[in-house]
Amino acid sequence: MLAEAKIPERIQSELEIFAVNVLDIAARFRQEMEKGLAGQNSSLKMLSSFLDRPSGNEQGTFLALDFGGSNIRLIEAELAGRGRYRIRKRQSWPLRDPANAYDFTSHAASGEELFDFIARQIARMVSPAAEYPLGHTFSFPCRQVNVNQAVLLTWTKEIKTAGVEGQEVNSLLAKALERNHVRNVTPAAIINDTVGTLLAAAYGDSRADIGAICGTGHNICYHEPHSPPKGQPVIINMEAGGFANLPLTRYDRQLDMATEKPGSQIMEKMVAGRYLGEITRLIIADLVDAGALPPAAFARVFTPYSLTAEDVSRLLADNSGDLAEVEKLMAEKFGWKVPGVAERQLLKKIAAAVAGRSARLAAAAFAGILQHLDPVLERKHTIAIDGSVYEKMPGYADGVRQALAGALGGKSPLLTIALTKDGSGVGAAIAAAIACGR
Ligand code: BGC
Repeated sequence: MLAEAKIPERIQSELEIFAVNVLDIAARFRQEMEKGLAGQNSSLKMLSSFLDRPSGNEQGTFLALDFGGSNIRLIEAELAGRGRYRIRKRQSWPLRDPANAYDFTSHAASGEELFDFIARQIARMVSPAAEYPLGHTFSFPCRQVNVNQAVLLTWTKEIKTAGVEGQEVNSLLAKALERNHVRNVTPAAIINDTVGTLLAAAYGDSRADIGAICGTGHNICYHEPHSPPKGQPVIINMEAGGFANLPLTRYDRQLDMATEKPGSQIMEKMVAGRYLGEITRLIIADLVDAGALPPAAFARVFTPYSLTAEDVSRLLADNSGDLAEVEKLMAEKFGWKVPGVAERQLLKKIAAAVAGRSARLAAAAFAGILQHLDPVLERKHTIAIDGSVYEKMPGYADGVRQALAGALGGKSPLLTIALTKDGSGVGAAIAAAIACGR
């Protein structure tokens, strides 16, 4: 109570914008997706995956490479048909070495170095006697040429590796496999991680028609039954993170201006884990500046990205009466002993506003897609979601569910939201199986 009264009006009015109107955003999102589908100018790229939903009978052993921006993950997956699968091997490596020995995501690294690194890890994992078709989940906006070729349009999530934008990604991978004498692995399919998530869910659930990632990055794909120009069914990677028709606060503008690509990925910068800590930090820094929170002992409260999505989760997880964990986190991060419980409550409230807005925006986009697919909601639908924010941020999954229930009214029982872990791995294996006709 005490702290709330202290928020300056200027900041209060910015925070009010965080309570976005879900139905209003859903309508704008639907309009934008339909413009994109019709080939008109749109902030949604609406990229064809060249894949339909799986039959559920795909079978065989496949290698899946998951390249998302923080780590590369390799999975050997065995698809058994009828929606059943088994992960036989799994390994993962960071793209940035925590001890700073390498960073394949920086301007200084080249695409060749990056894909050589990947090829070397593949060589270590596979048995030389076997043959592996490889499904590649590459989680960036790509123009697909066909199911096995995709040109990177632009890096997102602050990745900067040189010489990959504008290139066909699986050729870079194939050349690196050749340079590193890996002859028993053949790229067969390349997909977005949202597409992988939808394929993995749809393998055992024929009602799954929307796939999403709410993790470091944010994006959505869906199964379009009548894709132009020929009206055939196809999964479309919307690049939903690019959606731009949204009410921005001064914190969103401030954050955007300081990113690698200002003006792009507006929705992603409001929804994705890569940015949630930074939005929270910008508000806290503003409150310190305005004297509504005590000055921090360390200048780090003014250091960009010194607060992460994991920190936001820690703020949200503290349900104790005196919010001792909030105090501990602030002391660790900013050398800051937040004096009163009221200030700690204020910090938690800011984290809840930032995370809650993210969940409502994701829900609004889902509602917009559902309105497009099934305007009076007559059928059952499953939305498959993967990603650390959806899985781990306290209250996030509930926030998405509640916002969707509010938007769909009495029709919400027709909707299932399924946490689909391993989507990018299993989905890539399914894509490779479809591409190989298995
Ligand atoms: C990329 C998408 C991807 C999403 C989640 C975004 O930055 O543009 O292609 O699906 O992150 O990984």
